[in-house]
Amino acid sequence: MTGRTARTAAYAPSPLDDRARAVADRLHARSRRQTRTALAPVLAHAVTSRLREGSWDPTRSADGKAWLADKLVALDPHKAALCYQLCRAIGARRVVEAGTSYGVSTICLAAAVRDNLADGMSPAGQGGGLSDATVFGTEHEPGKVAEARADIAAAGVSEHVDILVGDLRETLTTVRGPIDLMPVDIWIPMALPALQIVTPLLRPGALVVCDNVVSGRRRYADHLAHVRDPAGPFTSVTLPGHGGLEVSRKN
Ligand SMILES: C[S@@+](CC[C@H](N)C(=O)[O-])C[C@H]1O[C@@H](n2cnc3c(N)ncnc32)[C@H](O)[C@@H]1O
Repeated sequence: MTGRTARTAAYAPSPLDDRARAVADRLHARSRRQTRTALAPVLAHAVTSRLREGSWDPTRSADGKAWLADKLVALDPHKAALCYQLCRAIGARRVVEAGTSYGVSTICLAAAVRDNLADGMSPAGQGGGLSDATVFGTEHEPGKVAEARADIAAAGVSEHVDILVGDLRETLTTVRGPIDLMPVDIWIPMALPALQIVTPLLRPGALVVCDNVVSGRRRYADHLAHVRDPAGPFTSVTLPGHGGLEVSRKN
């Protein structure tokens, strides 16, 4: 080292391999561009939902849903990286993702289960017998699914992804356990219904990660009451910042 101090980046680099990272970075950049121009339409649809449905949630009105039908609304890059790390930490092999959209978070999760498989890592207490490593995505917009599949292939993780196409309240009933991790990044009214279907499949020690629980705490009231209930099946912590993230562990 010379007398000069090396520059330290604000954030750790992505844990993804080069191929997956290139696709995820491209999709995140597209999502950011959409978000920059979204404020006015989101507000307009929130007002419409409030007037017609009594809720500020833009996903409650038909107009709002139609407007969102081609939007990525991707999980922030650092939250997606955290999901990768959590998967790796618990040796996750089977993941259910509530909300796939164009597949950015799916790529991160699939890379993690693939890397666990390659390293021979498996969930604590389950031995090394599991040979599969699968992320079950959920998405009801067929246009999003078609593009997601192409980008998941471009990222090199197709063999670890099974996107369930349709309303997750139906498609999730076809999934079998055990499930190690469940990111919840879905239109908020769907969060608790999705979790209620998957809860019996979650193995002890499984994690549920739910996005934007601080900024959306009122709309998430039912979900949060469920994962924070001292008599319920979860122990939960809230990470503040960037809208918040709830990390709940199945007891
Ligand atoms: C916030 S986005 C998911 C973003 C994704 N996790 C990512 O990081 O790219 C939520 C997605 O859930 C989908 N969705 C909403 N309600 C659904 C339902 N009932 N069944 C299946 N998918 C649904 C929406 O179409 C939307 O693409």
